[in-house]
Amino acid sequence: MSITLKNKIINKKARIAVIGLGYVGLPLDVAFAQKGFRVLGIDTDAHRIGRIQNLESYNADVSNACISRITRQKVFSVSMDFSLLKDVDVVIICVPTPLKRKYTPDISFIVSAVRSITKYLHKNMLIILESTTYPGTTEELIKPELEKSGLKAGKDFHVAFSPERIDPGNKNFVVTKIPKVVGGLTKACSQLTGLLYSQIIQNVHQVSSCRAAEMTKLLENSFRIVNIGWINEIAQMCNALGIDVWEVIDAAKTKPFGFMPFYPGLGVGGHCIPEDPLYLYWKAKHYDFSCKFIKLAADTNHNMPAYAVSRLQEMLGKSFKNARVLVLGVTYKKDVKDLRKSPSLTLIELLQKYTRVDYYDPLVGFVKLGGLDIQSIDLTPAIVKKYDVVVVAVDHSAVNYDLIYKNARLIFDTRNVYKDKTDKKVVKL
Ligand SMILES: NC(=O)c1ccc[n+]([C@@H]2O[C@H](COP(=O)([O-])OP(=O)(O)OC[C@H]3O[C@@H](n4cnc5c(N)ncnc54)[C@H](O)[C@@H]3O)[C@@H](O)[C@H]2O)c1
Repeated sequence: MSITLKNKIINKKARIAVIGLGYVGLPLDVAFAQKGFRVLGIDTDAHRIGRIQNLESYNADVSNACISRITRQKVFSVSMDFSLLKDVDVVIICVPTPLKRKYTPDISFIVSAVRSITKYLHKNMLIILESTTYPGTTEELIKPELEKSGLKAGKDFHVAFSPERIDPGNKNFVVTKIPKVVGGLTKACSQLTGLLYSQIIQNVHQVSSCRAAEMTKLLENSFRIVNIGWINEIAQMCNALGIDVWEVIDAAKTKPFGFMPFYPGLGVGGHCIPEDPLYLYWKAKHYDFSCKFIKLAADTNHNMPAYAVSRLQEMLGKSFKNARVLVLGVTYKKDVKDLRKSPSLTLIELLQKYTRVDYYDPLVGFVKLGGLDIQSIDLTPAIVKKYDVVVVAVDHSAVNYDLIYKNARLIFDTRNVYKDKTDKKVVKL
């Protein structure tokens, strides 16, 4: 282990740079700054950099006051200039890892970030990848790219993978409260990386390799996609059998061991669950291995908005065409503003082919769909009365569900917000 870098970390003298200031990178960068490290944030998005330089946060988990404070304390700065990396000891990469086509990883953001680092790589530097990716990325892609500098990984500089597990909007588990898994190229790389994160996170768990750390994250995300896919299938089965799936889940979860509840809905959204497990599916194919569970779950979740449309067709019968539908909630999950891959938006797009659809979301004033800006309606009794059916797509806390219940003609509840209503006005997923 590099004694110099080790001491710098312990004495909070190590300079840290985070590349990619999104949902993951910004809170992480801020967490190190709050512990007194001098941190730099680099992003290619001029708009984001401009906002932070104006002391304005675009992330609900980081307040404007916090950005002002750490900027004033001169421990936090942001830039688009990668040459600043020449004075940095630790670089943490938090760039996006989307899918290119259906089920094919797009690692171009990682490649681009690593190429920028390579230009300024110097001895004793520690490079950590946090972006979720397939097992092998750190060793097969990042290491050779960095070694183009002429320096040797594991000897001249250190490399590790440490998956980010943040759950944006979750106040109970902010970045510093979530245990961190670390896997280095060498034991020394792991130890240095573990030491670094232990400055801001209490529980650091070391694994034997970068691959094991990469796989850990994909196991976690695949666990979620598979169980959500499974419960969505169960929900469809229960409907066919005339059983209330929500009642069954509530009963099953009284078992104090061996069962963990997952809940049905319109599918999965956001940047992680719909995409990350498919990195594993893609990688396994190179080893002639077919991840059947992941593929099946992804397809099942993907089809949930279409299933919801078929249920609405059933509910409304002939009046389905030209019906007026109000969709409640457009984000990909409860109480966050994030629209990425939201299955509620897919539902709206599918419904637009047959019906007149409006939406209400207390967090999102307007959305762009099919090139058009659509505004959230005002939630008043008179307006709710106009719709043939209200679809509860997202169970945001800040919604007056009583007002809707009292005024709606029919409700399709995909989130069980009307758990206690047993009359025919409410139809559950
Ligand atoms: N959002 C989550 O809840 C979450 C949770 C755990 C892990 N992850 C993983 O973390 C990674 C980042 O996700 P995110 O949600 O923060 O993404 P994001 O899109 O919110 O932010 C990524 C940022 O990286 C910047 N960027 C892209 N290419 C760059 C480059 N070459 N150099 C500098 N900046 C660049 C973008 O401009 C953007 O600001 C992904 O791999 C994701 O799967 C996300």
